[in-house]
Amino acid sequence: MSDKRVKTLTLALKISITFLVLVALLISLISCNGLREVSSYITHTIKEKSKDNAGEEEDKTKNNMRGEEIMLPQPELESNISLEEALNSRRSVRNFSSKELSLNQISQILWAAQGITQESTGFRTSPSAGALYPLEIFLLKSDGVFHYIPDGHKIIKLNPDDLRPDLVQGVLFQGFVADAPVNIIITAVYERTTAKYGNRGIRYVHLEAGHSCQNILLQAVALGLGAVPVGAFDDSYIQDLLDLPQDYIPLYIIPIGYPEE
Ligand SMILES: Cc1cc2nc3c(=O)[nH]c(=O)nc-3n(C[C@H](O)[C@H](O)[C@H](O)COP(=O)(O)O)c2cc1C
Repeated sequence: MSDKRVKTLTLALKISITFLVLVALLISLISCNGLREVSSYITHTIKEKSKDNAGEEEDKTKNNMRGEEIMLPQPELESNISLEEALNSRRSVRNFSSKELSLNQISQILWAAQGITQESTGFRTSPSAGALYPLEIFLLKSDGVFHYIPDGHKIIKLNPDDLRPDLVQGVLFQGFVADAPVNIIITAVYERTTAKYGNRGIRYVHLEAGHSCQNILLQAVALGLGAVPVGAFDDSYIQDLLDLPQDYIPLYIIPIGYPEE
């Protein structure tokens, strides 16, 4: 074999090896967290950049979420019952008297769910992954449907109708939801959390709904009320009933009232 041919073959071999090394490097990079972080960062940045347009979209979806604003009384920060007593006596209650709850009680329950406890940061009673707060809380009672706004501790009346009788079908005919004077509906906008944490954000949102629900249940006990967490319901029925934006997904329904003896 001539020298020239040997040189050409050696060069071809070197190029092939370099190519293979590069491919191997690329594959290991793709499967490592670093690149995933980078790609998630890029997606996040692109999303940040198109935020103006997204903002318009969000405004559009929220057009049906406007209404009369009702300021809530300031929540009490003390009570006659200890945390241990509340934990010990919490039991799911499904028999309710028709006695209405006061605005003070409603204020207290909504504050327990998502109230702001630190004005400087906006941090709330319930922890939230990355403080992104994906949960939105709604209230169904005899005089209508309300949306809780933590900022300013207020509710917005979205609909004047009593939807509790219609709620029964949505919760697979668990009739007690119509007896309870108040039903809290915890919904979540997953995108607020998954935009930063990807699929793991789905888990975080569910954990947060649990935190918020438990706060509500314990606060109900502390107010001498009874409640039950309801997970068995038809998501799209509830979305339609409340006329929720498509990205507001119902996760929990909590009927609350005075326990019937
Ligand atoms: C995720 C979840 C979903 C639930 N869904 C319902 C429900 O749809 N209807 C209901 O009556 N109770 C529901 N419950 C309440 C349980 O039945 C109740 O917590 C259990 O029987 C234990 O009783 P306790 O809450 O009094 O300790 C649910 C509880 C959890 C944690």
